Formats: sequence, structure tokens, C-alpha cells
Amino acid sequence: MILEANGIEKSYGALKVLHGIDLSVDEGETFAIIGPNGAGKTTLFKVLTGESPANSGVVRFRGQDVTKMSDFRRARLGFGRTFQVARIFPEVDVFTNVAIAVEARLSAEGRSPGRWWDWRASSQVALEVEEILERFGFARARWRTEARYLSHGDRKRLEFCIALATRPALLMLDEPTAGMSPSDRREMTGLLARLKRDGGVSIVMTEHDMDIIFELADRLMVLNYGEALATGEPAAVRRDPVVREVYLGQHHA
Ligand SMILES: Nc1ncnc2c1ncn2[C@@H]1O[C@H](COP(=O)(O)OP(=O)(O)OP(=O)(O)O)[C@@H](O)[C@H]1O
Ligand SMILES: [Mg+2]
Repeated sequence: MILEANGIEKSYGALKVLHGIDLSVDEGETFAIIGPNGAGKTTLFKVLTGESPANSGVVRFRGQDVTKMSDFRRARLGFGRTFQVARIFPEVDVFTNVAIAVEARLSAEGRSPGRWWDWRASSQVALEVEEILERFGFARARWRTEARYLSHGDRKRLEFCIALATRPALLMLDEPTAGMSPSDRREMTGLLARLKRDGGVSIVMTEHDMDIIFELADRLMVLNYGEALATGEPAAVRRDPVVREVYLGQHHA
């Protein structure tokens, strides 16, 4: 088991958003959190990443209690995510953004190839950056484009490359395809499917697009008003009458 949460409760002031959530994610598994707008998905996600602490409950990563650990320290344990920790520098080009992330990982591992301004000289970093950009379909013509000039889809793709440059054991994705065009969305789904096939990474994601969920998720949890309505394999959850009524019915009438 890579991630486990028990009895997670979370309030914003008087508003109780999460009512005792339990979940567990196995090594290598893709686990999705779905539910209507305002159900508490992003709130749960932030509790799991450490960005926003729960009021009560416990989060464990590979058995280690990380409940009180910051998102920064969780990242060092192997939490990768597509924002916050993996931040894009807008005035820096695509290649350099990924190089900074590779360099950060190497220095966290105590294997920094040089001082930070020397990364250009480091062929090890450059090779790894090229491999990531090629593997995840970044057109070479974009490698020297400053991040601020990228299309929305390419920005998402860059965030994803940066997150992967940290070689996470657990990739946390809050709506990875939000705001994308249908073709970028299909491409991102393909990248995630490939990442899954290649193995070695567990994924926790939230997503509104049910087709993506049913393509990628090994198991999913349906949240509604901060409570878990159902957890299980997609086909079983899809058949669950309560889930159909509350959530899926809206999309798959
Ligand atoms: N920082 C905050 N302060 C106060 N209330 C908040 C805060 N963040 C979220 N909420 C409230 O908590 C509830 C759950 O929000 P959350 O963003 O977790 O939902 P969600 O399931 O991610 O929704 P969406 O599908 O729209 O992304 C909502 O009622 C929201 O208004
Ligand atoms: Mg959300």
C-alpha cells in the first residue's frame, strides 16, 4: 500500500467539507476521486498532498505517518504533483523548466552534477530532459519557447513533464485535463495510459471527464457532500444504484 488515509475530517470555518474519509491506494494503482462540483475532491486532494492539513484523521505514505508533514517534505518522499511543488517558471523556456526539476531531484538525492547555474554544462541533466520531452510528445520546436507563450495544452504537458522529472512514486493529479481541447485531452489521457503501462508509478487523480476515469482508473471513490458514496472498480461503481442516482445519472442518463 502506497497511500492510506483514515477518518479524514476537514472544515473551512463552520463549513464541514469532509466527513470521515477512508481510502487506500496500492502500489502501482491508479485511484480516482470523482464527484459533483463542490463535493470536496480538491480539499481531499490537498489533505493527501499536505498542502492543507486535515482537522482530524491520519495519512500514511508507505506506512509512514505523514499527517503533519508539509507538502514540500512529502514531495521529497515521492509525492509528485502537477502544481505547487512542480511549478512552472513562466519566463524560462520549456527545456530549462524541466532541467531545473531534474537538477532539483539530483541535488535532493545528493548527486548534484554541479552548482545550479552549471546545469547547462551537465550532459546528464540535458540527456534526461531530452528523454522526458521526447517521451511525452513535446515538439522539439517548442523546447526553447518561454513557458508563458505556450498554449494551455502545452502548459499542462509541461507541468506533467516537470512532475515526472522528480521521478515520483506517487503522482497526484487534480483534474489534469481541465480546460484542455478535446485533442489535447485525448493526448494527455494517452500519456497517462502509457505511464501506467510502463509501471512503477501510482496515481491519485480527480477528474470530471468520465471517459478518462473509466479508461484509466483501477479503482475510484465517489464523493458527495464530503462523504464517500462508494469505492471500488469502475464497472462495479458504475452499477451502484446510489451512485447512478446521485452522480453518474447526470452524465450517463
Ligand atoms: N479555502 C476554502 N475556504 C472556504 N471554503 C472552501 C475552500 N476551499 C473549498 N471550499 C468549499 O469546500 C467545498 C468543497 O470544495 P472543493 O474545492 O474541495 O470541491 P471539488 O469537489 O474539488 O469541486 P470541483 O469539482 O468544482 O473542483 C465547497 O463548498 C467549497 O466552496
Ligand atoms: Mg476541485
